[in-house]
Amino acid sequence: MSVSIKSANEIELMREAGRLLELVHEELAKNIRPGISTWELDQLGEKKIRSFGCIPNFLNYNGYPASFCISVNDEVVHSIPNKHKILQEGDIVSIDAGLIYKGMHSDAARTYGVGKISPQAQKLIDVTRQSFFEGIKYAKAGNHLHDISNAIDDYVSQFGFGIVEELVGHGIGHALHEDPQIPNFRQRRKGIRLMPGMTLAVEPMINLGRPDVEWLDDDWTVVTEDGSLSAHYENTILITDGEPEILTLNR
Ligand code: MF3
Ligand code: CO
Repeated sequence: MSVSIKSANEIELMREAGRLLELVHEELAKNIRPGISTWELDQLGEKKIRSFGCIPNFLNYNGYPASFCISVNDEVVHSIPNKHKILQEGDIVSIDAGLIYKGMHSDAARTYGVGKISPQAQKLIDVTRQSFFEGIKYAKAGNHLHDISNAIDDYVSQFGFGIVEELVGHGIGHALHEDPQIPNFRQRRKGIRLMPGMTLAVEPMINLGRPDVEWLDDDWTVVTEDGSLSAHYENTILITDGEPEILTLNR
């Protein structure tokens, strides 16, 4: 495993890749409402990415046929946008997005409620988002990678939710997926030592019920085995000597 340290120039490009991606998320968030299809959201988002002169990095990734992953309710991640998948009041929807700016990648995911959602669903969304922030409290030079994993697990476990173990976060930069893998659950080993200039996509995926997931016949869509709701929150971050810089949240 080799974890790359980005140069000042690469970091500057990744900042811009991140800033633009957040604008894409803002555009999609404005359009989430009962009645819209996940395909329409994908089209809107792809237009926005291309308006920046950027490329959607998910499109054609291992044959993936769309620009976004838009996962509803018990879908955990990697659900393919579809004209017939219409958002309904009370649904929760996870939008995972990424783009390439001048050769550098960004990757970020958010989960939203559609109209009015149940208090349980809102709690799941809030805990998933907060678990990212609990994890990255440890994302600084000198700490170890699995300090992040352990902090996410400690936080989420208090609520009795299921942490997905079969999918993990990752390094990111010249490629969408680089070393290292970043688990969201407690690890026996410490993992690599974090160094300034590492860029990581930290992305907890949390189920209301059991942690187990399965793949649908399309070979992409990941769903919870017990049919419970699932939420996802992800940002691309930069490791520094101090606080991590979150590249996909606009400052
Ligand atoms: N953000 C997703 C991940 O890190 C990327 C999905 S690639 C796709 O797993 F091809 F599935 F869209
Ligand atoms: Co990712």
